[in-house]
Amino acid sequence: MFGVDIGGTGIKGAPVDLDKGGLSDERYKVLTPHPATPDAVLDGVHDVVSHFGWSGPLGVTFPGVVADGVTRTAANVDAGWIGLDARKAISDRLGLPVVVLNDADAAGVAEMTFGAGRGHGGTVIVLTLGTGIGSAVFVDGRLLPNTELGHLELHGHDAEKRASVKAREDEDLSWEHWAHRLRKYLAHVEMLFSPDLFVLGGGISRKADKFLPYLHGHGLSARIVPAELQNNAGIVGAAMAAAKL
Ligand code: BGC
Repeated sequence: MFGVDIGGTGIKGAPVDLDKGGLSDERYKVLTPHPATPDAVLDGVHDVVSHFGWSGPLGVTFPGVVADGVTRTAANVDAGWIGLDARKAISDRLGLPVVVLNDADAAGVAEMTFGAGRGHGGTVIVLTLGTGIGSAVFVDGRLLPNTELGHLELHGHDAEKRASVKAREDEDLSWEHWAHRLRKYLAHVEMLFSPDLFVLGGGISRKADKFLPYLHGHGLSARIVPAELQNNAGIVGAAMAAAKL
């Protein structure tokens, strides 16, 4: 199976081994074009898929709300995506059957199946920290799709503008300073949802040792663990969705 992950900075894809829940070849990445218009992004998806000569069903993640293949929001890509039948557009462009789903939902499903949330009941919230903040909410392993917890308002700001990895980089924040913001954000989400477990994903999960120590023991009751599939979770989740086509 094959998954493509459209992100705010890169469009990444790889064939996926669904028995192991990992990539079966090294992933290939092109930079997300700016502006990230549908046509320009479709070119990138095409490049990634043709790099591998893939010709089967395709799962594609999108960094916004996706309802029945239609992209509904576009916080970190061009507004031309809003209201677009992305499933049809990608399928027409590549001549392949396509499923499109929210990037954090895809990553969350992969983490719940193969990674840090494996076998976990109760309420689990997977957050992807990157250009934005994505969320996937699970109850006893079942996904509530298209939650947008990255856009909760925190101290009068859109939370992802303060606590995403991009905010850390743009504002040149120390790990401690950024972790302090992240903790406030997690505390807010915990107040609203009382999850048993937070799984923190995105590329940053590789550096969990730099910020997890600042999150623990500060009044948060939920357990907090780094994602295990790290930055490949979206690709794996996309391929899992494609397997159902
Ligand atoms: C979008 C979400 C997405 C997240 C991570 C947010 O800005 O609204 O849909 O999951 O970024 O890409």
